[in-house]
Amino acid sequence: MTTTAGRAPAPQAPEPEILAAFEGAKGFMPLDEGLALYAAAAEATALGLPLLEVGTYCGRSTILLAAAARAAGVSALTVDHHRGSEEQQPGWDYHDPGTVDPVVGLMDTLPTFRRTLHAAGLEDHVVALVGKSPQVARVWGGALGLVFIDGGHTDEHANADYEGWAPHVARGGLLLIHDVFPVKHDEWTGQAPYRVYLRALESGAFTEVSACASLRVLRRTGPGI
Ligand SMILES: C[S@@+](CC[C@H](N)C(=O)[O-])C[C@H]1O[C@@H](n2cnc3c(N)ncnc32)[C@H](O)[C@@H]1O
Repeated sequence: MTTTAGRAPAPQAPEPEILAAFEGAKGFMPLDEGLALYAAAAEATALGLPLLEVGTYCGRSTILLAAAARAAGVSALTVDHHRGSEEQQPGWDYHDPGTVDPVVGLMDTLPTFRRTLHAAGLEDHVVALVGKSPQVARVWGGALGLVFIDGGHTDEHANADYEGWAPHVARGGLLLIHDVFPVKHDEWTGQAPYRVYLRALESGAFTEVSACASLRVLRRTGPGI
């Protein structure tokens, strides 16, 4: 089988060394969701379009998107300002002191992300977009085969990610939303992603394909968003 761009899509499961790199990388995604993310990314590569992630952090989930992209000859794009989300700041539950730049005194996950990708041998397959998601979305003009939303978890940020990137998902492409909790989980990974997931379904533009733990996979089946 070949993609609409004349290439073979990625295989449905990541190679063992990719899985090992994923499991060794700093980040938040558990293995079951990682496998579901990879499978969705592999399927989406059939469109021959780039795959885009919002929320790079240190590159854990990026590894999987990049591996699927590499196998199909497309690019993975990943957006982050690399200053961390609210719940990752000093004093909060998800803070990692190792992510603070001692010179600037702020979080900077970009160096760790670059080391992660380098170690996994995937640098050539990823375009890192460093900036605030809505600002990057405003200058992005192309169609995407997959958008994976895993950025800020406040309503403001989750809605801005949806509004900025969902319109770029090509017909037949996939929209993935992470940390979807129908029941309140905790203060920060609360329910903003869940509300965005409902919003996507209510738009009529997306149809649910599958769910794995807190990861939801939707397909673009309609025009309006
Ligand atoms: C939950 S982490 C991403 C985890 C990553 N996908 C993984 O699997 O390890 C969320 C990331 O989103 C980034 N972020 C939050 N709000 C953002 C915004 N408005 N624009 C760009 N990046 C943002 C943070 O800097 C943080 O690195």
